Amino acid sequence: MGYSDVYQSWKADPEAFWMAAADSIDWVRKPIRALNPDKAPLYSWFDDGLVNACWNAVDRHVEAGRGAQVALIHDSPVTGTLHKITYAELRNRVATLAGALRDKGVEKGDRVIIYMPMVPEAIVAMLACARLGAIHSVVFGGFAANELAVRIDDCKPKAIIAASCGIEPGRVVQYKPLLDGAIDQAEHKPEFCVIFQREQQVVPLEDGRDVDWHGFQYGAAPADCVPVEGSHPAYILYTSGTTGAPKGVVRATGGHLVALNWTMKNVYDVEPGEVFWAASDVGWVVGHSYICYGPLIHGNTTIVFEGKPVGTPDPGTFWRVIADHKVKSFFTAPTAIRAVKKEDPKGELVGNYDLSSLKALFLAGERADPDTIEWAQRILNVPVIDHWWQTETGFAIAANPMGVEKLPVKIGSPSVAMPGYEVQILDEAGHPMKPGELGAIAIKLPLPPGTLPNLWNAEDRFLKSYLTTFPGYYETGDAGMVDEDGYLYIMARTDDVINVAGHRLSTGAMEEVLAAHPDVAECAVIGVADDLKGQAPLGLLILSKGVNRPHEEICGECVTLVREKIGPVAAFKRAVVVDRLPKTRSGKILRATMVKIADNQDFKLPATIDDPAILDEIRAALQSIGYAKG
Ligand code: COA
Ligand code: AMP
Repeated sequence: MGYSDVYQSWKADPEAFWMAAADSIDWVRKPIRALNPDKAPLYSWFDDGLVNACWNAVDRHVEAGRGAQVALIHDSPVTGTLHKITYAELRNRVATLAGALRDKGVEKGDRVIIYMPMVPEAIVAMLACARLGAIHSVVFGGFAANELAVRIDDCKPKAIIAASCGIEPGRVVQYKPLLDGAIDQAEHKPEFCVIFQREQQVVPLEDGRDVDWHGFQYGAAPADCVPVEGSHPAYILYTSGTTGAPKGVVRATGGHLVALNWTMKNVYDVEPGEVFWAASDVGWVVGHSYICYGPLIHGNTTIVFEGKPVGTPDPGTFWRVIADHKVKSFFTAPTAIRAVKKEDPKGELVGNYDLSSLKALFLAGERADPDTIEWAQRILNVPVIDHWWQTETGFAIAANPMGVEKLPVKIGSPSVAMPGYEVQILDEAGHPMKPGELGAIAIKLPLPPGTLPNLWNAEDRFLKSYLTTFPGYYETGDAGMVDEDGYLYIMARTDDVINVAGHRLSTGAMEEVLAAHPDVAECAVIGVADDLKGQAPLGLLILSKGVNRPHEEICGECVTLVREKIGPVAAFKRAVVVDRLPKTRSGKILRATMVKIADNQDFKLPATIDDPAILDEIRAALQSIGYAKG
């Protein structure tokens, strides 16, 4: 069957399609019904089934006689180490950690925050939670204590599992002070913390609260897998929204297993036993879906890569890993390829490695610019597949399904809608638009299994953020169009979310931080074009009356403040002082217009602008720091 047959078979009977896909999952009790529409527009999938995610990701492969296959490769150029863990070893490690957690009272439904870098223990911790039916919430290491505290207060974890440190090129990132700071700041206090000591930084443990990763597990009896309902939350992953409060995206267990397993062959074209590599971080959705769960559920070998595309030690690192471990499908963000291209423009380092195992490169997380795609195609000589998805969906909304049919690549498009997704381009009133017309991208409800059923403890926010603007649809927050062949084009966000080096960030969150600076009366943060990172945040500050300290000093403090409050990952490096901000007559700041000015793009003067003269002042301010050069 080609792509259109598969897509049509889904469309003709979505429930039968997903029930058939569910056959590839081991159920403790097979679901009788795929979709539960009783609480529409809140839908759930496979909720009468009983299942365990860890069993499907680990134990079942051991039971099937594949215990000796390598499940996970930890390739860590930043520490100069390489470890391989078989499925049997992974099962033992996960079962023991789960046993120790259970002995300390962690049960089905309890939340556990995981704050760890790219070490195998992070995956072991995720799977141990899944084994018990506990709900994990992994927090990316590049976030500051304050962000961790916000997540602690929102999901109220019984335990936190953290590493002593992470390693960024040139510096050791100390996790313990961040963890301690976050727990001090948070109202909710976890009952205990499990600390994985790394040799790069051994930290003192807090009496009565912290336990050592190894000591705590010593003598623990391995735990069995706890069956959970298909709709039971597997994890909560916080992502940026319009405001400073992150959204806790919930992933339900059953649909997650079914959908991810389906994508491994149909989208990424890998067979069980083959090596799949997503060079991302466990703190992001790509890490959840395609470093941890997807490849393991499908019986692939996954790679936990602790390094960067460049500088660890050179821009040939990706190619070295692909050659060393015979990677068949490789997934990363366009930014990472841009970073490699910048340092090795001719791709000469490719020549040092045997990349014959590699069959495709997949890109997602941000817009893939044509230059990057063409360059990667040229130097790697494999299809370069852009695909579009979000933390909320957990797997691709649009892709070129390499295991179904290798469709022609149209550069600039992540290709076509995947089964499960009826994608529509809508105008402001919610009417479908014609091919080629730009509008809001929405997905007809119900969303497929594996996508978010809700936000953690925030149903109203879920309804308002996604389901209200276009009744009957999920609002993606992206704008774009579709062509006559059904290929999608993702052009921009419709909200205040920006994408910096493939990391999704909220300008609203940064504005909240800047507004707390005593000298800042009002501010706006915009995402301006950046050659390497796609977008970079830039702050425009109006100072309070009477403040006459040097502007550079205040801007510098603002940069420090964002790093302290949100974290280095925000990459907030620039701010400029302005007298006024352009607004509509109703007081809405015209951020998109300022972005256009900064990036030298043509724009239409907004009809509702209060005072057009302000735009000239903004242009001058932006020019003073190297933007809007015209
Ligand atoms: N823990 C602590 N700090 C982290 C971190 C982590 N896990 N990840 C990033 N940071 C820090 C970086 O050290 C950097 O700090 P600095 O300001 O002191 O230099 C800051 O956060 C910004 O990081 P980043 O945006 O990653 O920029 P960079 O300049 O360090 O590296 C790239 C640039 C392109 C190499 C890097 O962004 C990259 O590999 N991008 C790929 C993105 C990706 O995989 N995204 C996942 C979605 S698929
Ligand atoms: P995240 O939730 O971090 O995965 O970010 C999701 C957002 O990143 C999407 O809503 C898009 O704005 C953007 N994005 C992800 N993949 C792509 C892509 N292939 N092309 C364009 N934008 C993308």
